[in-house]
Amino acid sequence: MRTIIEPFRIKSVEPLRHTTPAARQGYLEAAGYNLFLIEARHILIDLLTDSGTSAMSTEQWAAVMRGDESYAGSESFFRLKKVADALTGFRHMVPTHQGRAAERILFTVMCKPGHVVPSNTHFDTTRVIAAEGAAKIPLVMLTVTNNSGGGQPVSMANIEAVKAVCAPHGIPLYLDACRFAENAWFIRQREPGYADWTPKQIAQKMFRLADGCTFSAKKDAFANIGGLLCTNDDRVFLEQTNLLILTEGFPTYGGLAGRDLDAIAVGLEEVLDADYLHYRIESTGYLGRHIADHGVPIVEPPGGHAIYIDAARMLPHIPAAQFPGQALAVELYRHAGIRSVEIGSLMFGEAARHELLRLAIPRRVYTQSHIDYVVEAILEVNQHKQSIRGMEIVEAPPFLRHFSARMRQL
Ligand code: F0G
Repeated sequence: MRTIIEPFRIKSVEPLRHTTPAARQGYLEAAGYNLFLIEARHILIDLLTDSGTSAMSTEQWAAVMRGDESYAGSESFFRLKKVADALTGFRHMVPTHQGRAAERILFTVMCKPGHVVPSNTHFDTTRVIAAEGAAKIPLVMLTVTNNSGGGQPVSMANIEAVKAVCAPHGIPLYLDACRFAENAWFIRQREPGYADWTPKQIAQKMFRLADGCTFSAKKDAFANIGGLLCTNDDRVFLEQTNLLILTEGFPTYGGLAGRDLDAIAVGLEEVLDADYLHYRIESTGYLGRHIADHGVPIVEPPGGHAIYIDAARMLPHIPAAQFPGQALAVELYRHAGIRSVEIGSLMFGEAARHELLRLAIPRRVYTQSHIDYVVEAILEVNQHKQSIRGMEIVEAPPFLRHFSARMRQL
């Protein structure tokens, strides 16, 4: 059967609100053409991010009721620890309020001024180790899947190769494991030798090649908040927990409620369900294929959690300095009420290497008919793309300007 069906049915629904193109034009003007500044109730389909936007399952909501809110040593923590330990195999695990908190703690403990952390997002790992010298490199980080690289997976062979480069220098390898389950599914589909493995077995092998990980439970744990920091290093763990107490809370809750820990524990197991992962990757691919086959340039092949439209190629009449990705984001919202996010010169300034528009798909939230609507909207925008105009910044803060800059259309 070719029809993609969601491997779940709906028990609780949340209304979507339609708005008119004229009303959306008004919202755009009031928000300075910045989609982060538009109220969510004025969005029809929200593809801004796949982070914290998942629908939780009946089992997760049941687990929420079981949450133990004891300050220290709650049962929820031990339930989460049992699941995380079986999955990752790391010696130590602490919860954090989200992924970036885990990163901040890890980097504060491990990095000194002048250090360099090579990763698949910023650097070619091998080349940097050779060029910088191992002494300056406290850890190497691999992001699975690569969010800044089109949502593309990292192969098991690649993880093994990075490990083989790091190990002789005694450099620990950490995974940024936000989308580990989607990565595991791609390995199963594409890499010879893994077709008979379960997603869990593949994920276990990925984690066991690493020395630790940071994890945002807002992605592949279907949780609305939360993160994890795991390591095999006893010294790092001790320093991490001291820092954690200062900024996140006691190490058995890490800034989360007990109920959040339980939701993450259940989500970590659910996400490895083969039927779910099959549907997830097929559905994202369906969106990518349908728009690409009708002439919309995307980063190929389609990623796991998002489709990235190449706005520079789609809108060659808009130069990078006039933010083609943002111009496209604005038009997609005005035309169809869909919110997406620019990943290009507005986000990265001079450092931008591409002008992309990311359509990130929240997990288990939208149905195939919503995806069909998104396809139709993008193809309609593609029909009148010549009329899309570039953008100019009117007002911007000194950094992370994409969150609050105000713009106007040229
Ligand atoms: N690592 C990656 C690869 C991410 O994509 C994100 C968040 C984080 C770390 C941080 O996790 O949000 O829990 O603090 N990405 C979201 C996005 C915000 O839209 O791609 P967090």
